[in-house]
Amino acid sequence: MGNWLSLYGCCPPDVQTEDHEEVLESVGRAHLPVHELTDFRYHAAMGGHLDILTPKEGVAILALRQGRLVRVSGAVVLKASSGNERRFYEALGARAARGERGERRLGSLAPGFYGAAAVRSEEKAQEYLVLEKVGDFRHPLAFDLKLGFVQRAAHHGPGKRFHMRRKAAETTSAEFGFRHCGMAYWDWTHMTKVKEDKYQGRQVTGRQLLGVLGRFFNQSPDQAWPLQGPWRSIVDKALAEVEILRGLIGKVEGLRFWGASLLLVLDGDAVAKQNPEKIVSSFSVKLIDFSNSEFIGDGPDRELLAALRNFSAALAALAALRGGGGGPPPVGPAPDLRPQDAEQLQAHKSRGLPYTLQDVSPDDCSK
Ligand SMILES: Nc1ncnc2c1ncn2[C@@H]1O[C@H](COP(=O)(O)OP(=O)(O)OP(=O)(O)O)[C@@H](O)[C@H]1O
Ligand SMILES: [Mg+2]
Repeated sequence: MGNWLSLYGCCPPDVQTEDHEEVLESVGRAHLPVHELTDFRYHAAMGGHLDILTPKEGVAILALRQGRLVRVSGAVVLKASSGNERRFYEALGARAARGERGERRLGSLAPGFYGAAAVRSEEKAQEYLVLEKVGDFRHPLAFDLKLGFVQRAAHHGPGKRFHMRRKAAETTSAEFGFRHCGMAYWDWTHMTKVKEDKYQGRQVTGRQLLGVLGRFFNQSPDQAWPLQGPWRSIVDKALAEVEILRGLIGKVEGLRFWGASLLLVLDGDAVAKQNPEKIVSSFSVKLIDFSNSEFIGDGPDRELLAALRNFSAALAALAALRGGGGGPPPVGPAPDLRPQDAEQLQAHKSRGLPYTLQDVSPDDCSK
């Protein structure tokens, strides 16, 4: 927390969402507003546990944020709250850094956070986070790239920790710092949307990475290379966003984005109708999934920085590609994982959980 304070002046920045919300009560409310599950449908989520809701047409969403009850008018998804993720969003605010010369704000790189709400199904109610919907389209095409050379969480016990390491070693995570964790793209041969899930994503090798990125970043009917028109533009846009993110993450000390993803979204209708302007304007990149993020340690999240550097290099390689295929994208030096391994142990200890973690040797988890 202290580091947010020093980065942004006085206090954790307040949320980002004024344009899309109306404050109904401004102080002192303690109870979450309750919605009915029947007012929602399941959002076409790419990665993760797929328990992401989106309100049906005409349903008004109320949320509670720091004692204030707000009515939300922007497009939202509701994600089951882990408590940890709510605390993270509260601390981050989503309109974090309002730069001096209108420079990009850190908050604009994560979904806006409206607050928390309860959703009731029969007699049970569960807490959800009300988040800005990234890409509010009838037919979104999205790509979830899980970031990090290994996935960590303070609550992981020895078994889970070992399992995460093995999963990283068996996928592109351990070498590149990112892996395919769910994607949807438009297939011109069959004139349909194709989905690949996170299990298919785990099968992808380093040599196949550029081909996978090409399925998302080149959805032109003729699959022409090098990338042209809107497809070249969205790669450039992604590169620019990732570079901004790297710059900002490099300045944030004592925060670890364990298990976060980059979510890339496009408007599927714009792709199917081959509307170049809409393809480009619909494209967005956000950092999502902070359920395992921690305020811990010194300095920036160097593992995340190395992952973003490698993803940038992969995008640059994609932009330069003259034909499908090719070898693996270039990769920079692997970060030293030991400092964050130690931070994970420290975070685990501070939770007072009943079991003790042993250090895991990387040799224990090789393929
Ligand atoms: N703000 C959002 N807007 C649009 N889609 C979203 C948003 N947040 C999540 N999604 C969709 O839901 C999927 C899963 O989200 P997320 O990664 O946050 O949850 P998770 O991995 O299930 O969570 P956890 O790691 O907390 O168990 C994403 O891949 C994405 O497709
Ligand atoms: Mg996720």
